[in-house]
Amino acid sequence: MNKPGNTHSLHTPYGDGDIDDIPVNPRLTGSSMAETLEQISISRRSVLTGSAATCLALGAGPFSLSACSSSESHNTSAVFRDSVRPAIGFKSVPVALGDSVDVVTVPEGYTARPFFSWGDPVLAEAPAWTQDASADAAAQAAQAGQNHDGMHFFPFPDAPNEHGLLVINHEYINDSLHPQGPSVTEGAKGEKVRPLAEVQKEQAAHGVSVIELKKDAQGQWQRLWPSRYNRRLTANTPMEIRGPAAGSDAMKTAQDPTGTRVLGTLNNCAMGVTPWGTYLTCEENWKNYFANRDEKDWQARPAHKRYGIAQGEHSHYNYWESADDRFDATPNAALPHQGFVNEPNRFGWVVEIDPFDPNSTPIKRTAFGRLAREGATCVLADDGTMAFYSGDDTRGEYVYKFVPDGRYDAERPEHNKHLLDSGTVYCAQYNADGTGRWLPLIYGQNGLDASKGFSSQADVLINLRGAADVVGATSMDRPEWVAVHSQTTDGYVSLTNNYKRGVEPGQPLDAANPRADNDHGQILRWREHGQKPTATTFDWELFLLAGPVLSTIDKAGQIKPLEGDRFSCPDGMWFDGDDRLWIATDYNALGAAYQGQGSNQILCADTVTREVKRFATGPVGAELTGLTGTPDGTAFWFNVQHPGISYPSSDGKSRPRSTTILVTKDDGGVIGT
Ligand code: FEO
Ligand code: CA
Ligand code: CA
Repeated sequence: MNKPGNTHSLHTPYGDGDIDDIPVNPRLTGSSMAETLEQISISRRSVLTGSAATCLALGAGPFSLSACSSSESHNTSAVFRDSVRPAIGFKSVPVALGDSVDVVTVPEGYTARPFFSWGDPVLAEAPAWTQDASADAAAQAAQAGQNHDGMHFFPFPDAPNEHGLLVINHEYINDSLHPQGPSVTEGAKGEKVRPLAEVQKEQAAHGVSVIELKKDAQGQWQRLWPSRYNRRLTANTPMEIRGPAAGSDAMKTAQDPTGTRVLGTLNNCAMGVTPWGTYLTCEENWKNYFANRDEKDWQARPAHKRYGIAQGEHSHYNYWESADDRFDATPNAALPHQGFVNEPNRFGWVVEIDPFDPNSTPIKRTAFGRLAREGATCVLADDGTMAFYSGDDTRGEYVYKFVPDGRYDAERPEHNKHLLDSGTVYCAQYNADGTGRWLPLIYGQNGLDASKGFSSQADVLINLRGAADVVGATSMDRPEWVAVHSQTTDGYVSLTNNYKRGVEPGQPLDAANPRADNDHGQILRWREHGQKPTATTFDWELFLLAGPVLSTIDKAGQIKPLEGDRFSCPDGMWFDGDDRLWIATDYNALGAAYQGQGSNQILCADTVTREVKRFATGPVGAELTGLTGTPDGTAFWFNVQHPGISYPSSDGKSRPRSTTILVTKDDGGVIGT
């Protein structure tokens, strides 16, 4: 089981604790409804007694504080009131308490079944998964990877509710990948050393799976195997690099002097879908896979330092650099392009995959910029203009959008093929009065020039965080997924938690991030002015504050409890076809701040009333993620990522496996109704 503070020999995200994704604040020893409300009201009281500047900085979005004269007349709360309530009719499931929960629970009248687990065969040559984890790298590369995360169902047009492709990210690996866990020895300098065969298996367990599925004669969804569509992408799959940073010196390595070809994708977290039916897999905590041993070089290189690449003898996760030179990002003057010092620059991108063409080469689209890229959620206007929203999931980082220069044209597939290669990236600034601005990140504008270390748009895109620092983006509480409401086109971003809020310099309390030492997270929503994806201004408000009691902040600046089931740390989010907002959580169920809340959950929210109902609970140790479904809403899939005990066998002894779950309603109806 993954418990905080345990000491594996290997750093894995939930073993020793993730560098920036750790889902618990170890400094808090308890939490309650009263405490949560008190915590917010303390920060509000300090607002009301503080200076005018502080006051404005702490106003609550469209809801203005009465003491803030400049925002008194600004009431945009009505902005968000024009959507139609979705039907939500199920009976909430209770919290799943304790450290022995090893099942998935869904409401009465629903059935959840394990559908696709780590090790299940994907390619024709794949052997069956075995309990002893003895599969080698080649076998693993043909089977499902570990840590299923972002996911999307792509229907076949002729039978959209009976036949489709499921595309699934495999974010990282667990110790369970190997029969006895990972082997680590120590080299002469104290560096960690790994066997190549284990490293290769780990690389093969990353990436993406594409699997074909179809309803059988009994109307049950089944995976098809073999299938000509089935595909595995791994950390070693050849990919193309395109867009403004492609071919720049900072993208060249000893292995790729062109700066346009790269092997693999890493730490694929959330995702996006284009209007032309391709999948966007997004590279999140890739920084943990590289090490730069040269401290002076690391200090001087923002593309390493600003992103948290390890400085020292080994990487944060897995220590692949000891067996595979590509992950040793120490400059090496003896090799062309200094060896692999630029290899980390080739990760952190949005990668476009055509799931319907198993022979297509995935493309890293550098026009989006390089981040701990959480996802890329598209909003499309009738005129073909569009935007893609992303969070950069590290404490204090920013929210972004990318607006392609061109327009989508359903009649011209060739025209759409490379629309993602040119456009403008913006970072978000949330003002205390409930308005916001998208600040463009363009070389030569707003200080993004040589005076700040930028000499080209490629530089801006490779160090997009540094560029957003310069223009004044708002530091946020770990931006995770974005979901877009289909009718209103409002964007919703989950800000999962941030124990540095109000603690670290540079992460002050503000209207969008109003809780100090924030264990529980919040969901913020915005509406582009004119409801145009290309707008550079918007209105925003806090949709809800998660925690022991759900709440929001009214226009007088008062905390208002909301109806609904408690949860913390919103992470995955998705709107289904009827605009129910599905929310998946990622907190440490055994952590002190989350007492009484049980294991991770999937919830369903009504964006009109803000009522939230608990739809599913998962096994202890697991986060839940990867929300998708059929167009008619009768099948719903989510992912159980890194279960702790023996799920999906649930026999108390089998090796646990990350698993995609299929949920159906027993009467064949729409999920959530
Ligand atoms: Fe992979 Fe930010 O979650
Ligand atoms: Ca996540
Ligand atoms: Ca998370």
